[in-house]
Amino acid sequence: MTDTTAVCRRLVGRTAVVTGAGSGIGLATVRRLAAEGAHVVCADVDEASGKAAAEEVDGLFVRTDVTDAEQVEALFKAAFDTYGSVDVAFNNAGISPPEDDSILETGLDAWRRVQEVNLTSVYLCCKAAIPYMRRQGKGSIINTASFVARMGAATSQISYTASKGGVLAMSRELGVQFAREGIRVNALCPGPVNTPLLQELFAKDPERAARRLVHIPVGRFAEPTEMAAAVAFLASDDSSFVNATDFLVDGGLTGAYVTPL
Ligand SMILES: NC(=O)c1ccc[n+]([C@@H]2O[C@H](COP(=O)([O-])OP(=O)(O)OC[C@H]3O[C@@H](n4cnc5c(N)ncnc54)[C@H](O)[C@@H]3O)[C@@H](O)[C@H]2O)c1
Repeated sequence: MTDTTAVCRRLVGRTAVVTGAGSGIGLATVRRLAAEGAHVVCADVDEASGKAAAEEVDGLFVRTDVTDAEQVEALFKAAFDTYGSVDVAFNNAGISPPEDDSILETGLDAWRRVQEVNLTSVYLCCKAAIPYMRRQGKGSIINTASFVARMGAATSQISYTASKGGVLAMSRELGVQFAREGIRVNALCPGPVNTPLLQELFAKDPERAARRLVHIPVGRFAEPTEMAAAVAFLASDDSSFVNATDFLVDGGLTGAYVTPL
């Protein structure tokens, strides 16, 4: 697994905006990007955790609800005004509430809320970040999608899955549109990640965990630091020819038919 104490310094002097910075994949990525030398701007709707993340890396916290266009514009402006550039946007905030379930049970309000937080937010963040990156003639955008955008689950969360499919299509299109202006746009597709939410759910219901683990060739869930390492690669010039991809970090899940015993 990734040892963040021994990372390279590929992002010295760059400015990275991370949404959903206070928890899980976002928090691990804040730490990793800072360890690689970036100025990190931490955005979260949760003030306490977002602020704590920023303080830990001596970065900037901007309280942001990513569904609000004005707040998102203010976030990227704050990043530029504070550090003089917007080099990396990790548009990662997302939700998967229990009201989002089978299509037969999921109401329109739950559907719309998940679309707003998971998909409209990515539209807003890209729309706000791209003008800064065009002026600089360079930038890397990483939008968090999910493996569920690539494979079907009988344990459906219908709006979540549809929102992540939208993130994949939007990232691909933007990556193509702005490629000749030095801007790369990739979608990160994590497999299931070992977050507190997942741990709690599976501790209560080991059968539920086993039903999912059997599909993962490496035989375990990912750690948030493994997502952070992928984001750091996509953010850095090491990935200069990686663009408009569905960047899978899933332990082989989407490639698997029969997994090892
Ligand atoms: N955990 C997994 O197994 C997994 C797998 C695939 C994809 N993902 C995706 O990765 C991303 C991060 O997931 P995580 O597991 O780290 O989640 P998490 O719940 O640990 O963190 C999400 C963060 O986003 C913030 N947030 C929620 N709504 C917001 C809003 N409107 N504005 C600003 N911030 C908001 C929360 O406060 C929280 O700090 C999400 O997009 C999720 O869909 C997660």
